[in-house]
This record gives sequence, structure tokens and C-alpha cells, in this order.
Amino acid sequence: MEPYRDPGLFRRGPSLYTVNGDPGIRVYGETLVKEEGTEYREWDPYHSKLAAYVLRGGRSWPFGRVRRLLYLGASHGTTVSHLSDLLPSGSLFALEKSSRTFGTLLALARRRANLYPILADARLPERYRAEVGEVDLLYQDVAQRDQVEILLENVRACARPHAPVLFMLKTRSVTQTLSPRRVLRDAEEALTAGGLEGKETVDLAPYARGHYALVLEAPA
Ligand SMILES: C[S@@+](CC[C@H](N)C(=O)[O-])C[C@H]1O[C@@H](n2cnc3c(N)ncnc32)[C@H](O)[C@@H]1O
Repeated sequence: MEPYRDPGLFRRGPSLYTVNGDPGIRVYGETLVKEEGTEYREWDPYHSKLAAYVLRGGRSWPFGRVRRLLYLGASHGTTVSHLSDLLPSGSLFALEKSSRTFGTLLALARRRANLYPILADARLPERYRAEVGEVDLLYQDVAQRDQVEILLENVRACARPHAPVLFMLKTRSVTQTLSPRRVLRDAEEALTAGGLEGKETVDLAPYARGHYALVLEAPA
């Protein structure tokens, strides 16, 4: 196992790994590898857009000084579990709207002390902003038609000034009648108009076709 690029990331062959924060336990059927007393979890880019971002050469890695992170669209907790591995002393607020997937997220949080699951709609940040407070990093992966508006509302409500923002844009959720490139351009323009500064955009194909990872910075 070789340290890879940024703290907490490891590679072996073509695969990416994090150090398992809950040794012996798989979250989504991923491979576990034990080497010299440390257990690593394979981070599957087909199941996690953040792993896809890393393996597609994304350069920004704004997790270094993060104490509080808000994750919108946590689902069963696949990506959240790897962030939990990466930020052992951070507080990770994982928000999910669907009560169907929330059960799995809750079970994950019971095993991981840095994870705080919230059952709520990301369109209504006023319902959770007091609990979450001002966060150092905002991550969104909700795959909704109004995903740009949801992001802007949450930046206003919960992000500290200049906080890094990671946005996984699913173009097909916005429209199927415009090309993914055109949906991306419209989203970038709307985000800039909303006060966010674009830092990097990465096409996540072939891991997630029609998806882009956008790294942005919240306004002052
Ligand atoms: C593409 S999945 C997220 C996958 C997850 N981020 C991962 O990498 O493990 C999108 C999730 O966003 C959730 N979602 C959609 N709209 C939402 C909203 N308004 N508020 C909160 N969660 C929402 C969906 O229920 C779904 O679980």
C-alpha cells in the first residue's frame, strides 16, 4: 500500500483506499486489505463520485483543515463513510431526505463517532442550520433538478466565508434535452452569479457519465 497524493489516501495498483475507521466492517461490500497492522477499505469510484474525482485527476483536496463538514444527499453513507475515515477528529453532518435510506445511515453513525446523521430536506436549511452551525466545507450530491439552487441556499445558510464547496452535478437530473456540457455551463454561470468562485471542474466519466465534480469557494 502506497500513500497517494493527499493525507489519508492510499493506492495499491489501480485501486484507491482509506484507512478503515471501523476495522473489520464493510459498508457497501468493499474489499478490505490488511497490511502491517492497518486495515484499508477500497474506495470504489463507481460507487462514490469523490473517489471518481480523485482518480480522474482532481487536484483540489480541501479536507486538510476541516473540522465541520455538511454533506447533502448522504444516501446510505457510501462516500460519507470514507470521509469519516479521512476526518477522524472532525464532525460530519450527513443530511438525507429519504427515510428509506436513512436507516442505513443511522446504523453507520452508531458505529462512527464523527458522524451526525440528519433526516431533513436540503431545500429547507433553516430547519437544520442551528444544529449544524457554520461549516468549514459543504459537499452536495443530491441529483435533483434544482440542485444548483439547493447548493446556493445552503452556502448562504451554513458555509463559513471562503469555505470550500464540493458539488457533484448530475446533468440528467436537470434536463435530458440539453447536452451535459450545456447544463454544466449554465450551472457554472448560476453559481458565479450566486457569489461562488469556481476553482476546478472535473468530468467524472467513465465512472459516472454525465456527472461533473465542481470545486468552488463560498463568498466572503
Ligand atoms: C446520488 S444519491 C447520493 C449518493 C451519495 N452521495 C454517495 O456518494 O454515497 C442522491 C441522494 O440525495 C438524496 N436527496 C435528494 N434530494 C434531497 C433533498 N432535497 N434533501 C436531502 N437529500 C436529498 C436522495 O434521497 C439520495 O439518497
